Formats: sequence, C-alpha cells, structure tokens
Amino acid sequence: EIKSFFSGELLQWYKQAKRDLPWRRSRDPYHIWVSEIMLQQTRVDTVIPYFNRFMTKFPTITALAEAPEEEVIKAWEGLGYYSRARNLQAAAREIADNHGGRLPDDKSVVAGLKGVGPYTSGAILSIAFGRPEPAVDGNVMRVLSRYFCIDEDIAKPATRVGMEGLARELIPEGEASDFNQALMELGALVCTPKSPSCLLCPVMAHCQGRLAGRETELPIKSKA
Ligand code: ADE
Repeated sequence: EIKSFFSGELLQWYKQAKRDLPWRRSRDPYHIWVSEIMLQQTRVDTVIPYFNRFMTKFPTITALAEAPEEEVIKAWEGLGYYSRARNLQAAAREIADNHGGRLPDDKSVVAGLKGVGPYTSGAILSIAFGRPEPAVDGNVMRVLSRYFCIDEDIAKPATRVGMEGLARELIPEGEASDFNQALMELGALVCTPKSPSCLLCPVMAHCQGRLAGRETELPIKSKA
C-alpha cells in the first residue's frame, strides 16, 4: 500500500534526519504556537534567533499579554508582517483573560485565535498536544501532490481541503507530532520546489510523481 509505505518510511526517516531546532526542544504549547506564527512567512534560519530572544523577553503567555505593544513590535523588528505580532499579543491577552494564561487542548479555542488559520491550528494541536490533526501548508501540498501525483490546482481551496483529508488519513496512530513535522522537514530538506533531491528521499520508491517523470512540474498552481 503506497499510503502505509509513505507514513512508515517518512516517520522513520524523520527520527534520524530531523534538525535540532529550538522549538523542537519543547512541548510547551506557547513555544510551539510562537514558532508556528514566526514560521508562517519567514524561513527557519531567520526565525531561530528571533524565537530565542522572544522567549527570553516574553517567557509565558501572561508575560506577553502584559507587555506594552511597542515592546512586542520591537522584538518582531526584521521579521516583517507585523500584524502577526499584533495578533499574537491580542490572542495572548484573550488566553490570559479567558483561559488562565494557558493554551487549552481544545480545537475550537485554538482555531479561533487571532492569526491562527487551519494550518497553524493543526500544527499546534498535533505538535503540542499530539492530536491527530493535519497541518497542510504549501510545503506539505508540494510533497503530497508529488508523491500521489495529484495534479489539482493547489491555489483552489477545494484542493487544500482534499489534501487535509489525505494528510489526516496518513497520520500513524499516536505519531501526529512527528509525522506532521516529518512532512514539513521533507518539504524543506528533500522535496524542495526547484530541484528536489529524489535520490535522498525516503519515499522515492513509490513516489507517483517521480515515477511519471513529473516531479518538477508538480504541484500545479494557477497564478493570481
Ligand atoms: N515550518 C513550519 N513549521 C515548522 C516546524 N515546526 N519545524 C520546521 N519548519 C517548520
């Protein structure tokens, strides 16, 4: 079965290939949340020092909630997309006010936070709480569209929804955190946009896109 091969091999690969990243040393939902917000529009190498400084300055959700807004914006300087910082603080204030300063293991609360869309919600729930939720961003859509040779337009909401269903089915029992991070890691390190390193890929043997010789033309993405 090409699905169980994918999940099994990918997970095994991740356990030995994963990068040691600061937010991977923690299971504190606050750490996972901040890292995922920073990683939304910024690359890992850039995020690392910002993440570490941010956690020193604002070590808890309550500390972030109580900080002056200009301090939070200053800590974000250079990351860009400052609405992320403003939404993060607004959400921290909401958690401080209504949830005792702790991110709850509750999908409707997490998904309802300012700045948290379906990808980020799935990432937080799976990585911080181990819940079997998919976390499908552009990198994950690239990996799935290649492995399963899906030639639907990834700019269409229905394509993302279909991939979320597929990604949910692929999660091995009890392994949502590592499996979702394995998908991200494969997209970042191996199944890259321009010239994927198929010879290093743990799932090359059954990659339908590669077998069709179409790996570099996938995913299909319409303009505008
Ligand atoms: N990109 C988005 N989330 C990530 C994570 N948890 N680790 C590495 N890269 C990511």
